[in-house]
Amino acid sequence: MDTIIVTGGGPVRGQVSIAGAKNACLALMPAALLSEEPLILTNAPRLRDIETAKALLSSLGADVDMRDEGREITICAKGRIEHFADDNIMRRMRASNLVLGPLLARTGRAVVALPGGCAIGERPMEMHLDGLEKMGAKIERKDEYLHAEAPVGGLRAAVIELPFPSVGATENLLMAATLAKGTTVIENAAREPEVTDLAECLRQMGAHIEGEGSSRLRIEGVDRLRGAQHRVIFDRIELGTYMISPAIAGGEVECIGGHLGILASFAETLAQTGLTIEETSNSVLVRRDVERLKAVSVTTEPYPGFPTDLQAQMMTLLCTAQGQSVLQEDIFENRFMHALELNRMGAQVDLKGRTARITGVKQLTGASVKATDLRASVSLILAGLAAKGETRISDVYHVDRGYEQIVRKFRGIGANIERVKEE
Ligand code: UD1
Repeated sequence: MDTIIVTGGGPVRGQVSIAGAKNACLALMPAALLSEEPLILTNAPRLRDIETAKALLSSLGADVDMRDEGREITICAKGRIEHFADDNIMRRMRASNLVLGPLLARTGRAVVALPGGCAIGERPMEMHLDGLEKMGAKIERKDEYLHAEAPVGGLRAAVIELPFPSVGATENLLMAATLAKGTTVIENAAREPEVTDLAECLRQMGAHIEGEGSSRLRIEGVDRLRGAQHRVIFDRIELGTYMISPAIAGGEVECIGGHLGILASFAETLAQTGLTIEETSNSVLVRRDVERLKAVSVTTEPYPGFPTDLQAQMMTLLCTAQGQSVLQEDIFENRFMHALELNRMGAQVDLKGRTARITGVKQLTGASVKATDLRASVSLILAGLAAKGETRISDVYHVDRGYEQIVRKFRGIGANIERVKEE
């Protein structure tokens, strides 16, 4: 298993280019199941999760072709599509559950294994299933598989009120509704930019959708969807991660290919710490002009609030800021595993349930730590940038799921980082 070694001390300086969004791409790929014609996605990120989505769609009978080193993905779900999704692939990532809605809409049946993913909490699926049942599907759980069947004549439109604006449930139901009979309304829908990106792509495929970006989606079902070409939105979480690097290590980083329009609450929080943030038409420039940043308190929330996927990285920043802060995780119930690893590096984080109380320290110290999930891995790399000496991060396979060429990108901004194979 690979280890990443970071030797801290120096500032980061330079440019880093931001890839297409993992979470958008993982929802866009299954959307191809809704049409017999090809869906071409450009600006796709090159990640292990995308390879997993490719394997999943191929196993269902779609042709998936990658060009331009994986930046362009063409998916053609012409002809017979299988309704059975094997647990070997499904358990590799949570987002595999996004085939459920499209499969039911396209083939009327789906037998899918319960999905896996990061160990950051229970992550149940009842909102996805309740919504599909409202659309007439019969769903049963047998062992580790969900058996779902659409009514004769296909899924029917419904008014669905989500108890919580779940991103995945909104995406699954949105896709299913595009081919359902009648007009579906999803109340309390997730407003995340990745949901909006999916809606825009589906509209290009011929779907009738209103309200994306708001809490109320209205989808008028159509008989068929056509092919389309769609550019995947940039990865706001990758942007936020690299924006944090000069905050922790000092220096100045320009992130190319992103903007703050969809990262406003995060950018406001960073600015409150004393970081300098400037925007150009195609980039975001971040600079630390002061010796130490100020502590701020943060609560994660559904979009447009502070994203849970940047909580771990923000915790690392707060560990080195001056003063005390409170970090509240309100989306997932078990997303603080990085705190224990940060404490091994000399951080002072005190956990109580979903609340972390952090007292900033002047200097972190390199240590051997373990990456416990995707965002936790990168929070430890960030900590390593500012730590005295060497930080060895094991189990870094998590990072390959969601960060493209991470060692190369950090080296590009002057970080002393390498990846080594270990027994
Ligand atoms: C997506 C993102 C993930 C991000 C999360 C929250 C993808 C591929 N992943 O995950 O990176 O951290 O949004 O922004 O886009 N829940 C239930 N029942 C359900 C569904 C969800 O209780 O049926 C709970 C979850 O356990 C969690 C919360 O709702 O506590 C948010 O989950 P959700 O928004 O669905 O996240 P994902 O779509 O899994």
